[in-house]
Amino acid sequence: MLVTGGSRGIGEMIATGFVEAGARVYISSRKQKVCDEVAGRLSQAGKCVSLPADLGSEAGCKQLAAAYRAHEDGLDVLVNNAGANWGASFEDFPDSAWDKVLALNLKAILFLTRELAPELEKNASPDDPSRVINIGSIDGLHVPALDTYSYSSSKAAVHHLTRVLAKRLAASKVTVNAIAPGPFRSKMMAETLDNFGDMIVAQVPLSRIGEPEDMAGIAIYLASRAGSYLTGTVIPVDGGMSGCL
Ligand SMILES: NC(=O)c1ccc[n+]([C@@H]2O[C@H](COP(=O)([O-])OP(=O)(O)OC[C@H]3O[C@@H](n4cnc5c(N)ncnc54)[C@H](OP(=O)(O)O)[C@@H]3O)[C@@H](O)[C@H]2O)c1
Repeated sequence: MLVTGGSRGIGEMIATGFVEAGARVYISSRKQKVCDEVAGRLSQAGKCVSLPADLGSEAGCKQLAAAYRAHEDGLDVLVNNAGANWGASFEDFPDSAWDKVLALNLKAILFLTRELAPELEKNASPDDPSRVINIGSIDGLHVPALDTYSYSSSKAAVHHLTRVLAKRLAASKVTVNAIAPGPFRSKMMAETLDNFGDMIVAQVPLSRIGEPEDMAGIAIYLASRAGSYLTGTVIPVDGGMSGCL
């Protein structure tokens, strides 16, 4: 399996869960040193390989797919997790915040999934489809409190792209689902949780932020036999934040 943005945060939570469950896991991110270090650490519990790449362009997605192909000729699970956020006021929200965020959060999902479709199809069967898991966000389900215009729009688009790709790839026996996380501790969320943590927890019906096991568990479920009859779904993993309003 391959996890983009697997070097920290939600991607690392998912990669760790799969390594511990015995999967052969490839992780990718831009910073080679960090990616190598995390893969080295996770390899103490199983098998994890670092494939650094910048997915902010189609060329970077092609480069990652080629690097993966140098190791494997099939792919069971692709987790499109790498993402970026940008906060700026309504008055000042810049053009560049659209280009950067949409390139990584949205376009890279299409480009990487398309590049790796032959490898996904190779390992797919009617009883055991290959799985694509996209990481969306509850900010694509509800209107977020903070000024993140391109981010929340990109995540709503990720959810819809998930449905479109699910239909397109169903005949190839590849399922495509999205996880929409609520608040989880990560570099992206560190400042928000440090400044507004108590307020955010107060908005979560289950009164806590997500733990690594919550994220690893839903991804393992989607990749397991139990998840093989789901496609085109968006699953909120948010302690009830988006569903119990
Ligand atoms: N944490 C939350 O509460 C939360 C909630 C909802 C949704 N999400 C979603 O979950 C995903 C992971 O977020 P996170 O919170 O774990 O963020 P994070 O801690 O900032 O991690 C982002 C990961 O993506 C990689 N990355 C960033 N830009 C990249 C690029 N251009 N090319 C390739 N890799 C890149 C980063 O490594 P490098 O910097 O080395 O490239 C890192 O591994 C994102 O899609 C995010 O929108 C998170």
